[in-house]
Amino acid sequence: MTLRPLRESDAPALLALWNRSAPYDLLTPGLLREKVWGEPNAGPALVVEGGSGFRVPGSELEASGGGLASPQSPVPSLLLGFALGALWGAPNETRGTVKMICVVPEARREGIGGRLLEAVEAGLKARGAETVRVAECSPNYLIPGIDLRYTPGWLFVQKHGYESVGEAVNMHVDLGAESWNTAEKEAALLASGVEVRRAREDERGAVMAFLDVHWPAWKPEIAGTFDQRPVSLHLAWRGDALLGFSGYDANNVGTGWFGPMGTAPEARGLGIGGVLCRRCLRDLAAQGLASATIPWVAPVGFYAHYAGAHVSRVFHRFEKRL
Ligand SMILES: CC(C)(COP(=O)(O)OP(=O)(O)OC[C@H]1O[C@@H](n2cnc3c(N)ncnc32)[C@H](O)[C@@H]1OP(=O)(O)O)[C@@H](O)C(=O)NCCC(=O)NCCS
Repeated sequence: MTLRPLRESDAPALLALWNRSAPYDLLTPGLLREKVWGEPNAGPALVVEGGSGFRVPGSELEASGGGLASPQSPVPSLLLGFALGALWGAPNETRGTVKMICVVPEARREGIGGRLLEAVEAGLKARGAETVRVAECSPNYLIPGIDLRYTPGWLFVQKHGYESVGEAVNMHVDLGAESWNTAEKEAALLASGVEVRRAREDERGAVMAFLDVHWPAWKPEIAGTFDQRPVSLHLAWRGDALLGFSGYDANNVGTGWFGPMGTAPEARGLGIGGVLCRRCLRDLAAQGLASATIPWVAPVGFYAHYAGAHVSRVFHRFEKRL
């Protein structure tokens, strides 16, 4: 078995490995590319490759010489494990994360995951990380912690000295439940001097300046909304003053991924956030999607109220001091 850096040519095998290993977070080729090769703060990215004699015990996956043949991919592969480290995106951040880690089910509890984890932790430490989280990172995360249905993953991080630092939830929105009409609320806001509309391509600078003041950590995600067509960002203005924003397709593009959104403290309680949120959900419904995900939610009550959203997944967050 060899531990080596991930290569671009591993992509098909990596997709098969990930989808066999992480059934609650299946990826498409495009999403895998976004999460791994699109990670702005990536490193180290490592794989463990089996020897040519590796056989998968007692399964339909036989790998004598030809490698693992996954039912989800016709591409033969000897990849047994994968781990991706990343530093968090904010300036001066000393947090690292094991953003993704998996070992093919047939090769577990042989120490492959441990080798990968230790190598990623060492790489993150060498890059300046003082602590490391599991899965959660900013801005390009897939999941904000461990879904405990990955029971071996939970036991694995405990074994390696990670401690619980709380929970995070995702919420689910049934996009077919209503029309997401905002006309009446928008008319009332306009009468009070607040205009809500889609962001224009030339407004990137104004939006980034607003985020600098209130939510600098969200700049990379919101920057991504300006790359979408139409721009996947709605804004609320009073004259030249930006009051709030709400985006979608900032990452995990194509999955109905909502957010982030925010209303400036002085403009809260006017109904701006509700209108901004529902405009995004209307756009996602227009893409033909049946549902949307509101990931890593703090204001659960807000989304339950304006979007009929319910908690769909609970993630447990873990940290270790390096
Ligand atoms: C987590 C994962 C990468 C571990 O890979 P691995 O190659 O089995 O890791 P190791 O062999 O180095 O260590 C396994 C350890 O995990 C724990 N563990 C895993 N499964 C276990 C089980 N069924 N019962 C008890 N302990 C278990 C133990 O501490 C075990 O060590 P031990 O075998 O010495 O008792 C693998 O289980 C996996 O891919 N899971 C799905 C993806 C996932 O959950 N990723 C993490 C969150 S994103």
